[in-house]
Amino acid sequence: MFQVNWDLGSAPPKRQEPKENKKRKSQSEKAKSETPKNKESKAQQSSIKKQKQEGNGKEKPVTENKQSSAQQGDKKLANENSLTSLQQKMKGKLDGAKFRWINEQLYTTQSEDAVKLFRDSPDMFDVYHAGFRHQIENWPENPVDVFIRFLKERYDKKKRSVSVVDLGCGEAKIASTFEASKHIMVRSFDLVSANRFIEAADISNLPLEDGTVDVAIFCLSLMGTNWQSFLREAYRVLKPQTGQLWVAEIKSRFSDKSGKVFAEELPKMGFENTSLALGNKMFTLFEFVKKPRSQEPQSLPPILSACIYKRR
Ligand SMILES: C[S@@+](CC[C@H](N)C(=O)[O-])C[C@H]1O[C@@H](n2cnc3c(N)ncnc32)[C@H](O)[C@@H]1O
Repeated sequence: MFQVNWDLGSAPPKRQEPKENKKRKSQSEKAKSETPKNKESKAQQSSIKKQKQEGNGKEKPVTENKQSSAQQGDKKLANENSLTSLQQKMKGKLDGAKFRWINEQLYTTQSEDAVKLFRDSPDMFDVYHAGFRHQIENWPENPVDVFIRFLKERYDKKKRSVSVVDLGCGEAKIASTFEASKHIMVRSFDLVSANRFIEAADISNLPLEDGTVDVAIFCLSLMGTNWQSFLREAYRVLKPQTGQLWVAEIKSRFSDKSGKVFAEELPKMGFENTSLALGNKMFTLFEFVKKPRSQEPQSLPPILSACIYKRR
């Protein structure tokens, strides 16, 4: 159902080369049969015709006959260069369209649909992440770097051990940063095991024991219409009383455009807000701690909407 043939209807238009080549060939055959004198007189005629036309304000004619082969070569090279840049531009547009399409699927469907989508076409993961990198390259800061800083300062430098799960880890930057750390143990989960750090799993159903994790991170990964089930799953795997939930989300996704409402609502799921950083213009950072729950977690109102990127 989700198999996508990227080539369908999106392939760049075919180059008109055969026709061009044919034209060039017939011109060169014609040129071969002409004497230099003939050529010169033709060029002169062409030039006179051109001047007349320019005088009449008409469009500049194509007067290839009067060009030297070096000039023709230069022109061909220029044509090829312009075709290449055109193709590059088209490729950029096509990649952007693919990224936006995948992004929309991830935000507007249940995670089980996302699992099927990436299982059927795992190459979409790279397409998505190339587009995602492009999207955030102009952000003043990448939230994943903030979480890396937190981990360095609070655990690595203080030689305190911590077990971390990076949920919806993308390219697993956190795990690769702390690969050699003696104190920070990271497990990274995403839909595709695109590199050696990533374990493929739906983050609404983690292959982890109850109450075993110190820090659960969702960095821009509360995607999927069932994002509340991701939070319930994080609650399950976090250690009682001390387990921490760190979340970074795009400001524009929140119903109040800041995220304060998110911090206020999460106690209904058993998370108490301990820190809220609203300073960054693109995203808000939250820290929560797991609290005992006397009842089943309540559903939250629709406080988080999809992040749909517009065509640029
Ligand atoms: C916007 S990217 C952010 C990646 C990374 N956390 C970062 O900040 O660089 C969100 C990631 O969440 C993943 N994701 C979304 N829904 C998921 C699910 N149900 N299970 C696992 N990963 C999921 C996507 O595949 C994507 O890699």
